[in-house]
Amino acid sequence: MNNSSYIGSMQILSPERLDWAAYPFVIPAVNDLEKIEFHPNVTFFVGENGSGKSTILEALALGLGFSEEGGTRNVSLSTASTSSGLHQSLRIIKGYHKPQDYYFLRAESFYNVATYMHELNYLQGYGGTIHHRSHGEAFMSVITHKLKGNGLYLLDEPEAALSPAMQMTALSMLHQLCRSRSQFVIATHSPILLAYPNAKIYQFSDTGIREICYEDTDHYRMTKDFLINYQKRIHQIIEE
Ligand SMILES: Nc1ncnc2c1ncn2[C@@H]1O[C@H](COP(=O)(O)OP(=O)(O)OP(=O)(O)O)[C@@H](O)[C@H]1O
Ligand SMILES: [Mg+2]
Repeated sequence: MNNSSYIGSMQILSPERLDWAAYPFVIPAVNDLEKIEFHPNVTFFVGENGSGKSTILEALALGLGFSEEGGTRNVSLSTASTSSGLHQSLRIIKGYHKPQDYYFLRAESFYNVATYMHELNYLQGYGGTIHHRSHGEAFMSVITHKLKGNGLYLLDEPEAALSPAMQMTALSMLHQLCRSRSQFVIATHSPILLAYPNAKIYQFSDTGIREICYEDTDHYRMTKDFLINYQKRIHQIIEE
């Protein structure tokens, strides 16, 4: 493990006691969890819808003591539990240094965290009232005001709210935060975010997890092919 990493890897505890035919252990990526060694800067999870990215990211977050809904470590929300329980079977190998800052962003629960913060009158750190901003503006305000550096940050599809230009701004902020000793684990479908060079990309599929380089990801290849040949591809998709 790199000296500057806050988390090094994750493992399944007592695999012989688990039901590998039941959710979440039946997901091929969960079978291959041992292969994930975190990059000291950014680790990306990519893969088709339903390949297990959010399941593993949430288990990692819960295993580290984050609330299921996201936000900082001391935000704890009592909404209905949808957790897979995987975190109870995880051993997370931590580094020598402890992060000074934490954040777990689940795209779909971001609004709930904002509501809770609002009720607690805890919005100073977000630079104002998040509910008066657009989804993308609110997301960017979390990145700019809330992530302070020296932190461990888990983000699930952070691109969901962002225009391509804003995704590039987010890349620049990501880089600044990495330079101030931050570590990220990011589940994404964004071919823009995935281009960040100080990173490891793990592709999740029905055969498990494998490390892959940027230009070999489906996200890069298919987006590039589509944009270059969009007239032909549209014709094939809607006419054939
Ligand atoms: N509570 C549950 N019980 C059974 N199966 C579940 C449950 N929650 C999720 N799943 C299944 O687990 C699999 C992994 O889901 P997950 O949300 O981790 O995928 P993902 O890679 O994040 O997909 P996406 O890119 O669409 O966000 C999916 O097949 C999903 O249907
Ligand atoms: Mg997901």
